[in-house]
Amino acid sequence: AAFDTVIRNGTVATASDTFKADVAIKKGRIVAIGEAITDADETVDASGLLVLPGGIDSHVHISQPSGPGIVMADDFESATRAAAFGGNTFVMPYCLQEKGQPLRAALKDYHALADQACYVDHSFHLIIADPSDAVLGQELPALVADGYSSLKIFMTYEGLALSDYEILGVLQVARETGALVQIHAENYDAIRFLTDRLERAGKTAPYYHGKSRPIAVEREATHRAISLAELIDVPIVIVHVSNREAMEEIRRAQARGLKIHGETCPQYLVLTEEDMQDINKDGLNMEGAKYVCSPPPRDKASQEACWEGLQRGVFSLFSSDHCPFRYDDEAGKLTPKGRTSFRWVPNGIPGVETRLPILFSEGVSKGRITLNQFVALTATNHAKTYGLKGKGSIAIGYDADIALWDPQKTAKISQSGLHHGSDYTPYEGIEISGWPVATMLRGKFVVRDGQLTGAKGEGRYVTRGKPGAVA
Ligand code: URP
Ligand code: ZN
Ligand code: ZN
Ligand code: ZN
Repeated sequence: AAFDTVIRNGTVATASDTFKADVAIKKGRIVAIGEAITDADETVDASGLLVLPGGIDSHVHISQPSGPGIVMADDFESATRAAAFGGNTFVMPYCLQEKGQPLRAALKDYHALADQACYVDHSFHLIIADPSDAVLGQELPALVADGYSSLKIFMTYEGLALSDYEILGVLQVARETGALVQIHAENYDAIRFLTDRLERAGKTAPYYHGKSRPIAVEREATHRAISLAELIDVPIVIVHVSNREAMEEIRRAQARGLKIHGETCPQYLVLTEEDMQDINKDGLNMEGAKYVCSPPPRDKASQEACWEGLQRGVFSLFSSDHCPFRYDDEAGKLTPKGRTSFRWVPNGIPGVETRLPILFSEGVSKGRITLNQFVALTATNHAKTYGLKGKGSIAIGYDADIALWDPQKTAKISQSGLHHGSDYTPYEGIEISGWPVATMLRGKFVVRDGQLTGAKGEGRYVTRGKPGAVA
């Protein structure tokens, strides 16, 4: 036959168009899009289904060290399996540099963890914890040239927070090399001060995690990050934006012509700080730890602002910030130290499998965003922003990374139906209209009819090119 596979009678959506077409695949790539394509070894009937590019999640944490005695709930196998079930074909986890560690050594470790373990394709963002002269002068430029073209830096967290001087140094290297820098924007000293004050007042339950990093903490750091990027004249990504004030900082910067990319995440659309208030059956007051992440979920008005940011294009990226810990586990949210204060509860929540259904249901099915915006926000823009070639769209010559969606399928999110390593989902019980029903990686089904059909190790490491602009 002329083609290996043809996906027939589906509705194809890209970032710009929606149309009925058959999609023909050969050697893992999309080679024809048209009407009545029949000459294929395998025909997949997609009647009533949407044919979308596989999701690209450019913000996930996998197997990242998270403090003494704390273990992330997912390794590369379980995280990428969950990603595939959630309609994704590509993830961009982080490679965390330890203080004093050469970047190459950190990369060697993460590659060793990911090689032969993944169900979907992947690349790494470098977390720069130690911007020494050697790192900024030699290692980083060489690695950017080798395809590690994005990095993340932090304005907060013990052991990770960079000074403004150090941030400027990293941004300068990004400007010289064409790398794209993600910035975690929260004011470190303000969080430390508020945390100490809350603890002295005996306010140590998980709920106070939110009170230790209120909106002004994020808004100030967002403004400062943008100002530093403006000084160097370099694009940046402000990741995981949670509220209107930070969103407005980005919007104003964009209006002034600065290349500031904005990202938001599911937790800021459907969770609030009230979720961190839950008390468990032992009266331990720890149930709220299930929702502890940074920045924290805010309030309903902040949710509305994040929707507005997505609708207006202030946010071009919608990622999960998947950062999974188990709840009922001393190596996770119930760390013995955590019971003495929210300060010790590991920050982060699982979400790689539920990102797309939540945005589809709350966004597309409820009419807040179009199907084309959904595709842009979940796949196309991630590929363009981070220099990933030949992925993120349904187009001739692109990899056949495809998710088939049933827009009519309704079911609640429940832990029992998920495939991640966490023992809970913060999104338990949310009613979803529209689910992915099959995921194809380079022309081969990874997930089909609710079954895992891919094999571990079929997900490949992909080198990226220079980050680009989102049209
Ligand atoms: O709480 C969070 N988001 N943990 C993950 C690390 C980060 O800052 O993205
Ligand atoms: Zn590798
Ligand atoms: Zn972050
Ligand atoms: Zn993160």
